[in-house]
Amino acid sequence: MDEPEIAPGPFLEAAEARLLETSTDANRADWVYQTHITEDTEQLSARALARLIAETTDLARRSTHFRSEDLSPVESRKFRLLRLSLPLVAPGDPHDSEELTRRTIAMSSTFARGRYAPHGTSDPLDLQALSRILEENRNPTVLEDVWTGWHRIGRAIRPDFQRYVELANRGARELGFSDLGAMWRSKYDMPPDEFARETDRLWKDVEPLYRSLHAYVRRRLREAYGPDRVPDKEPIPAYLLGNMWAQSWEAILPWLARDLGEPTYDLTQLLRDHHVSPAEIVRFGERFFVSIGFDPLPTTFWTRSMFTRPAGRDVVCHASAWDVDFDDDLRLKMCLEITGEDFMVVHHELGHNYYQRAYRRQPFLFRESAHDGFHEAVGDTIALSITPEYLREIGLLSESPESGGDIALLLRRALEKVAFLPFGLVVDEWRWRVFSGEVGPAEYNRSWWEMREARQGVAPPPGRDEVEFDAGAKYHVPANVPYMRYFLAHILQFQFHQALVRAAGLSGPLHRSSIYGSAAAGARLRAMLEMGESREWPDALETLTGSRRMDAGPLLEYFAPLRRWLDEQNRGTTLGW
Ligand code: ASP
Ligand code: SER
Ligand code: ZN
Repeated sequence: MDEPEIAPGPFLEAAEARLLETSTDANRADWVYQTHITEDTEQLSARALARLIAETTDLARRSTHFRSEDLSPVESRKFRLLRLSLPLVAPGDPHDSEELTRRTIAMSSTFARGRYAPHGTSDPLDLQALSRILEENRNPTVLEDVWTGWHRIGRAIRPDFQRYVELANRGARELGFSDLGAMWRSKYDMPPDEFARETDRLWKDVEPLYRSLHAYVRRRLREAYGPDRVPDKEPIPAYLLGNMWAQSWEAILPWLARDLGEPTYDLTQLLRDHHVSPAEIVRFGERFFVSIGFDPLPTTFWTRSMFTRPAGRDVVCHASAWDVDFDDDLRLKMCLEITGEDFMVVHHELGHNYYQRAYRRQPFLFRESAHDGFHEAVGDTIALSITPEYLREIGLLSESPESGGDIALLLRRALEKVAFLPFGLVVDEWRWRVFSGEVGPAEYNRSWWEMREARQGVAPPPGRDEVEFDAGAKYHVPANVPYMRYFLAHILQFQFHQALVRAAGLSGPLHRSSIYGSAAAGARLRAMLEMGESREWPDALETLTGSRRMDAGPLLEYFAPLRRWLDEQNRGTTLGW
């Protein structure tokens, strides 16, 4: 082994300075690409990404020359994070590495350009417009057509995905991981296998609640669509759940509402009644953070962000939050529409921005969340404080439903959050098997549906053979974004919410508690955000919640009244599929 030319301290200092510069360059190129897709921006972005990957990989390789006994705890943590800092590493061969970044960007562009003209029309619609139809239309033939039409996108993505798996695995192996999935699982301050057991444990805790919700929803859909389309004891057709991936089901709440006999409200309607603009939705989010003691967003956030879909060019519409220079150049990129769902997404994204800003004083390699589930959980935690009382306080709702409306409120949240849990789990359980080689290209689609059926209890329309590549129809697969983070975030946000509600001195039920305006809750949250990734995640979790373990208990507590109601509704119904 070569002798290191310098001591670990100066090596890291130089490495962090270089990575800051290269990452900022890559962010700028990527921003221009994602907000204006052309052949040129594609190439510029691919090249900037290739440079970042090459540099990170090179530093990571050189870092293995230091002997661990020569490193301080902070230094060895930084070296570990350096190896894990990107979701993709390049193989040493420059041709391979060029092909990998080119194919990765190609998948992203194919996805972003996807359009489908529903049967009997000639107007090609984008994913957002197709999604609106799935949410609002109740004709099963139309729903199946729109679902199938969007999923055609997978066919075009499949060849690039297959090569990307080979090349990305090659890169991960050269860095000492068994495959890219193992590399992703190594980011949680515990051995990769132990992490997989952890996600299993959390799922076991919430699975009974999910099955109860599933059985109730299936029975109501069967009443609506008939037993031929929604048979008893079978998985639910994926296109009937009001979402392209059947990942959250709040769009079908109106179908269930007549059961409830309770007053509720429709956030989409409230926003439209009040003529709220896209920028005003973002202002609502900012004001929430300000109310608990955070600073207003920088002026450049408002001038540089993209809030709505621009006319006349292709963009990556999937919402994301940016921290371009790892300091104060925060941005939001969204194709915002005036809906309750996007109101929540704005809070989700601002959670990322406020996290990024809170840890910007950390050394470069610690400017990250405690683990990636933390990043995804912060904005959602704030959104759990969007209670009827909060909406009344900010003037959107004229009177809040009395506590009699609790089942309606909880059911809406469960359709959003509980329905999501098995989907949040299965996307990466599937990719882990793909990266490890357990699932090969000849069975991509079959295994995808077997696993989705087993976890979620949903099924595709007939005929999804291996010409199709249905996993490719979900953004994060072509975009190479790990997904287990969202499962973890859906558990963590209830833990965070419970802790912050207590810090705010509130004693009502969790689903009726809002931390809006609580400086005490804000200070507790900020203390954790400022730590960034400087400590192992159990330390960060403890700072906020007092506990060192991820725990589904608060989620179960939040939904306990609904669970009792669902179990009552399900009496005499067979659960499962
Ligand atoms: N809201 C999007 C999603 O979670 C993007 C993000 O993570 O910020 O996929
Ligand atoms: N934002 C993530 C998605 O769109 C998780 O909700 O899938
Ligand atoms: Zn996110």
